[in-house]
Amino acid sequence: MPKLNVVYACQECGWSSHKWTGRCSCCGEWDSMIQEKLKPLHAQTLSGFCNEKPVSLPDVKLVNKLRMETKIDEFDRILGGGIVTGSAILIGGTPGIGKSTILLQVCQKIGQQGFVSLYITGEESTGQIKLRAERLSVTSKNIFLVAENNLHVIFEHIKDVKPKLIIIDSIQTMFNPDIGAFPGTVSQVSQITHELIYMSKKTDSSVLLAGHVTKQGVIAGPKVLEHLVDTVLYFEGEGSMSFRILRAVKNRFGSTNEIGIFEMSTNGLKEVKNPSEIFLSTRQRLNSGAAIISCIEGSRALLVEVQSLVTKSSFGVPERKVSGVDYNRVTMIIAVLRKRIGILIDGYDIFVNVVGGVKVEEPAADLGIAIAIVSSFKDKEISNETVFFGELGLGGEVRGVDQFDTRIKEVEKLGFKNVIFPKGNIADVSESKSLKMYEVSSLREAIDKTW
Ligand code: TYD
Ligand code: MG
Repeated sequence: MPKLNVVYACQECGWSSHKWTGRCSCCGEWDSMIQEKLKPLHAQTLSGFCNEKPVSLPDVKLVNKLRMETKIDEFDRILGGGIVTGSAILIGGTPGIGKSTILLQVCQKIGQQGFVSLYITGEESTGQIKLRAERLSVTSKNIFLVAENNLHVIFEHIKDVKPKLIIIDSIQTMFNPDIGAFPGTVSQVSQITHELIYMSKKTDSSVLLAGHVTKQGVIAGPKVLEHLVDTVLYFEGEGSMSFRILRAVKNRFGSTNEIGIFEMSTNGLKEVKNPSEIFLSTRQRLNSGAAIISCIEGSRALLVEVQSLVTKSSFGVPERKVSGVDYNRVTMIIAVLRKRIGILIDGYDIFVNVVGGVKVEEPAADLGIAIAIVSSFKDKEISNETVFFGELGLGGEVRGVDQFDTRIKEVEKLGFKNVIFPKGNIADVSESKSLKMYEVSSLREAIDKTW
């Protein structure tokens, strides 16, 4: 009989079971199931937020100032206009991506507006944070620092300082001594988050939690952590590149899919206001295999360069490697090229990459990817004045896309001359002085219009 007060939790994905197994049945990781003892939750945690009585909806009182703007536009936008009072925000990302940096910069901006923040660090000493603060020119007197891991002591500090913003860096280093488990274990992480959220709602402060991510790229700890908080942001970016993309994957107070783009400089994260200009900074002639595509990220349009390389395969099974685009869509596009256009591409290795570390997930990128592959295959350059967008169907047809106006505005703003777009969007076209618009209904037509 399994003991009911003992649970085995996977330290990679948070899956738990009453029986020990050598391999996690959820994520497949070996030797990741660790025994954790379950203790009853505190009465106060169970009692909910404020022991309130049910109130009729029109009588619910609004909090005075619902949102606290950080004045870092890229950050405010992904949150839907600032930090909502009483909310909990989780920021996940690989080590060294910039979580602690952005948190300190947010504290500075909040401090300049007269709001007090309490920065609790479980990873670094206050001296190390001070060094980072000097580098970032963070000097606000309204920022209070403490190196602490024990949740009970943290609660005492919160009661003393009465901050408007609580920073926990990181959630995996904190522990509650009442739970017989190491910091970072599933039971610690979920219960501490629960108690911090309770605390922040009770004191009308907001809490920002930094979270480590696992090998699979999800926040370490149980998935329930993401359910507990109001907003989940992921910091993305290639280690070698200076660009960092902050992506909202969950937001109770704003839209998801919104991204904020930053550049890591020698003195902190700088906002990138015109991302397309940065991603296309080298507007020289494009090599064969490169095409400019328009994609939508959240509420704005981005122009990015997608590159393809098609080379004769030296092995029996040709390679297909993609980065920044969806692998399955690329294989579909290759199949369409073979069947509908008759390109004999079978014995070739195909690589597709998006420049600048951006991830393009929408189908509107299909047309540009297909044209880039054809360009590399035929070794014919595409004009660097042309932008592509359109979804590809299995019949080789080009389908209409949404947010046509937003895309065209960005194309015009950056001074491109030609747009190859789906015929399905023809009703959205308005008079444009600077742009030549070529509508296409099939991939074949798009290839003919490109060259
Ligand atoms: P950090 O915020 O400590 O990352 P995290 O908390 O996510 O682990 O960022 C550390 C990296 O950023 C480190 O490689 C140094 C670099 N960095 C800069 O390039 N410029 C800066 O001004 C700062 C503060 C850090
Ligand atoms: Mg850090």
